[in-house]
Formats: sequence, C-alpha cells, structure tokens
Amino acid sequence: MTPRRIDQILANFGYCSRSEARHWVRAGRVTAGGEIITVADRKFSPDAICVDGEPVECPNGVLALLNKPAGYVCSHDAGEGPTIYDLLPTRWRKRNPAATSVGRLDKDTTGVLLVTDLGELVQRWTSPKHKVAKVYEVTVHADIPPNLVAAFAAGTLMLEGEDKPCLPARLEIVSAREARLELTEGRYHQVKRMFASAKLDVTRLHRSRFGDFELDDLPPGQWRLLPMP
Ligand code: URA
Repeated sequence: MTPRRIDQILANFGYCSRSEARHWVRAGRVTAGGEIITVADRKFSPDAICVDGEPVECPNGVLALLNKPAGYVCSHDAGEGPTIYDLLPTRWRKRNPAATSVGRLDKDTTGVLLVTDLGELVQRWTSPKHKVAKVYEVTVHADIPPNLVAAFAAGTLMLEGEDKPCLPARLEIVSAREARLELTEGRYHQVKRMFASAKLDVTRLHRSRFGDFELDDLPPGQWRLLPMP
C-alpha cells in the first residue's frame, strides 16, 4: 500500500480534519507499527496506523453489502427522508471520497446493495459493458401472463421514452403473481417499467443477488464488510 502522510490518512478516512490530526499526533494517540508517532507529516502505509490503539478502519477502502430495508432512499440528501447512509458508520460518509452505493434501489425496494468508496468498483459494477447480473424477486398486483417470459427474453422490449430495447432478461414465474427476474443492465426503475409494459404494477421488489453477492442470513438494515475483489 502506498505510504501517505498521517494527517492525510486520518482526514481522508473520516477521523478528523488535518489540523485535528496534528493535535491527535502531538497527544500521542497515533501509532504506526506499534511506535508512537510525534510528527503528522511522516508517511506510512494506512494499514500500519492505529488511533487510540485501534487499527484505522478499512485501510484498503470500504466495500460492504447492506441488506436495504424498505423506506430508505439511496441518496446523500437527508431532505428525501431516511437514507441508507443512516444505517452505515458515520465515518464512512466523512471519508474522501465518501462511501456511496453501487447504483441505486428505489425507496420501497429491499435487499442487496453494495456500498464502497472505491470509484473503480462503482464504475466496474455499474457500467453496462460489464453486464453484472442482478436478480429480483417480484410480486405484482395481478396474474403474470406466461408469454411475458418470452417477451422479456427476446431483447426487443422497448420501455417508454427510450430508443434502445432492453437486453434479454430471464423471467421465471414462481406463482401466479410472483416471479424472479434476472437482468444484466440497470436502467432507471427498470423492473417496474418492464412489468408496467404488461400493465402489471409491482407491489413488492426485493433484490436477492448482485453479481456474485447474496444476503445469506444478513438481517434487513444490517451490513457486512466484503473482501476486496
Ligand atoms: N428496478 C426498479 O424498478 N426498482 C429498483 O429499485 C431496482 C430495479
């Protein structure tokens, strides 16, 4: 890991401002490789640093999986109601760059949401060319016509207001009003708009998989760190 100045590490990892970092160093609160550091401009690898005896959090960057509950928006703007960032450590928001969701889920959608401060992962996992598979469990207000399987698989479905058809998507009808849908793209409100094309309103939407990541037994509102890919 590239060595960086201590004050820069503590500021960029959301601990304090750079001037506060200098105070923390002078107060003997910061160690590197077990040695108390006395000047904040010395350079170390972030994974060698401890503050008050605790290793700095996520020295290689944040990568976490949140089980998003309904009622939370994927926005940094608190004016839109409770946000997913209320469910995550406050320090992640103060990092530079800040931790952010990989794509967004609607307020009423639940399930797998990745959060990271690594821009290259956001780019890789949201870019259409990488075709990351996302699986949604969907409930709709009326019975699902069996021909929707072929309609979604055809790669010809046009969503209102768009000029390119959706990529082929795999629909599995689970019961009269429930289905599992696998997409490899992530257009705005895509699942709801795909079902709306068949005059079906989505009444429950849960993402059970994003790429290789699943919830396992993670309860709603909880998160866990993931290994760096
Ligand atoms: N598609 C939607 O319509 N909503 C979501 O939250 C995710 C995918």
